[in-house]
Amino acid sequence: MSIIITYLNRNDLPELLKWAEDERTMLLWCGPVFDFPLTIEQLKSYFSETQKPGPCRLIFKAVDENGKIAGMCELGAISRRNCSASICRVFVDKASRGKGIADKLISFILEYGFTELELIRIELNVYTFNTPAINCYEKLGFKREGLKRKSTKFENEFWDGYVYAILKEEWDKRAV
Ligand SMILES: CC(C)(COP(=O)(O)OP(=O)(O)OC[C@H]1O[C@@H](n2cnc3c(N)ncnc32)[C@H](O)[C@@H]1OP(=O)(O)O)[C@@H](O)C(=O)NCCC(=O)NCCS
Repeated sequence: MSIIITYLNRNDLPELLKWAEDERTMLLWCGPVFDFPLTIEQLKSYFSETQKPGPCRLIFKAVDENGKIAGMCELGAISRRNCSASICRVFVDKASRGKGIADKLISFILEYGFTELELIRIELNVYTFNTPAINCYEKLGFKREGLKRKSTKFENEFWDGYVYAILKEEWDKRAV
């Protein structure tokens, strides 16, 4: 599938609401940062971080041939001091999964982070049972660094999460 990757706009925010169809899905996508149900006010406040000078958050979208948003991904926690950032809020619309969109979107953001922002480390958190996402990140070259035990509460469960990261030299080796 051919997609265009560009910055998410404020006008796109209502489109994202439908992805948080239930609390579990919202947690898988966003981690414990929003209250369920997701609201436009929460998304506006989240988005406002991208509008500051030297932002610590950039949000990208994948747009399909029909002009629809097929997926999104944030490059967050951008630290110019430590030359590091985090991939987060990765989501591909159900109808568009399995077509390489997450792979293209995250590859674009890694390339952007390591070249434009001159980062040396990009990390992420993923729940230990999220096999599609784990496979996707490992295929891109992320390495598992640790386990955060019982780090998210959902109903009467506590979910474990893995920490993954990729360094610039690892990405450069893979990209050649
Ligand atoms: C995880 C997610 C982003 C993957 O998006 P996608 O566009 O379907 O992924 P891609 O088509 O780019 O697949 C890339 C790789 O991911 C892995 N993968 C994707 N879907 C998979 C599945 N259902 N089962 C197993 N592995 C899968 C495969 O390794 C795949 O490479 P391959 O096709 O060469 O085997 C998508 O399933 C999603 O939005 N899930 C819900 C939200 C979520 O869990 N986000 C992650 C937060 S950490």
